[in-house]
Amino acid sequence: MIKPLRGMKDLMFEDAERFVYTIKTAIEIAKRYGYSYIETPILEETALFKRSVGDSSDIVSKEMYQFEDKGGNDVCMRPEGTAGVVRAFVSNKLDRQPVKQKFYYYGPMFRYERPQKGRLREFHQFGCESFGEASVYEDFTMITMISQIFEALGIGFDLKINSLGCPECMPPYRENLVSFLTNIKEELCTDCNRRIDTNPIRVLDCKNEKCQSLLKESPKLTENLCETCQSDFQKLTALLDDAGIAYEVDTNLVRGLDYYNKTAFEFVSNEIGAQSAIAGGGRYDKLVEYLDGKPTPAVGFAIGIERIMELVKMPKKQKEGIYMGAMTPEAVEHLFPLAAKKRKETKVTVEYTPKGFKTHMKGADKAGARYALLIGEDELKNGTVWIKDLETKEEKTITLEAF
Ligand code: HAM
Repeated sequence: MIKPLRGMKDLMFEDAERFVYTIKTAIEIAKRYGYSYIETPILEETALFKRSVGDSSDIVSKEMYQFEDKGGNDVCMRPEGTAGVVRAFVSNKLDRQPVKQKFYYYGPMFRYERPQKGRLREFHQFGCESFGEASVYEDFTMITMISQIFEALGIGFDLKINSLGCPECMPPYRENLVSFLTNIKEELCTDCNRRIDTNPIRVLDCKNEKCQSLLKESPKLTENLCETCQSDFQKLTALLDDAGIAYEVDTNLVRGLDYYNKTAFEFVSNEIGAQSAIAGGGRYDKLVEYLDGKPTPAVGFAIGIERIMELVKMPKKQKEGIYMGAMTPEAVEHLFPLAAKKRKETKVTVEYTPKGFKTHMKGADKAGARYALLIGEDELKNGTVWIKDLETKEEKTITLEAF
């Protein structure tokens, strides 16, 4: 028997409904904020992710589904959505238009990670990317939108925020950090040692307890921001305070993708175990330029759908549509024109096999139907149908024409 690949899952029944409900809810809210749908290919040139997510990031260096296609091209299954959307923004020349663009997307992402609860190799994201708006009000609005999505889905969260500075304040900070890290090099884990040279900021994010306790004394970026970054970060926290959105400033929040600057944020849940990040995002004002577009400020986020699925509170399912059944073989054919007529307005389930009354009623219940319609010998003779409202329990017999 062939099984799905490790870290990949089929989705059906109740889970599939929950999935669709989650995406639909997010879409509805994103539209209210002016986002429109974008669909980009799952397969892209590997160079796209190397240049955007970053060569030294774990995603690019260890986790890519990368291969050579039959034409000899180095391609990759997207590990995240932002790079493709930025590529589309640039290759469709939207960077040359003075209009601000806002896109939402959802779909599968692929990362060759070690699977565990909440960590899959194929998982789904719902994401938004906003182009052309440099104001910190946009960062705030985006955080408000995510909070609203989680609220609509009945999900509680903690919000962590940080500022990663800009090309003015980040390089001197990085130098500062490297000299701090070099002094404690011997005591840090091998991963951190490797990162001191390749990507020192990521050291702050190390999950090793010993490293974390050593890093308590590290220089903090939020204390070394330039004037603009500092005042933007203060503005963001003030806006969140005024809006009553609780947050924690986490100076070690650096995110696992290299394109961020200034605002970075993560939404976490304490109800789902170790893989607790349910959404992440931030500003990436230089990425459009890195991918050969005109300088365009941008900010975005993505929610991990599988991570929140078990937390989503769906409204109680209402009985819906009509179940149609026949009690004699001759009556079966009479169901089809009725079904065709009613399908123009509601959901119809037709049982093709003639069955007894009780079995049909069980079928109607299983189909979640509001009404059961049956045709037996008497109805066939009289040109009528028998209908029961399964909610009010009211029954009646009406003529075929009246139906
Ligand atoms: P990310 O933090 O890598 O950011 O992923 C966003 C969310 O996807 C995570 O918070 C998590 O819920 C979910 N996720 C990530 N990896 C897995 C996995 N292996 N299994 C299940 N869920 C996972 C990004 O991808 C950025 N593109 C977000 C962004 C958009 N930044 C700006 N715009």
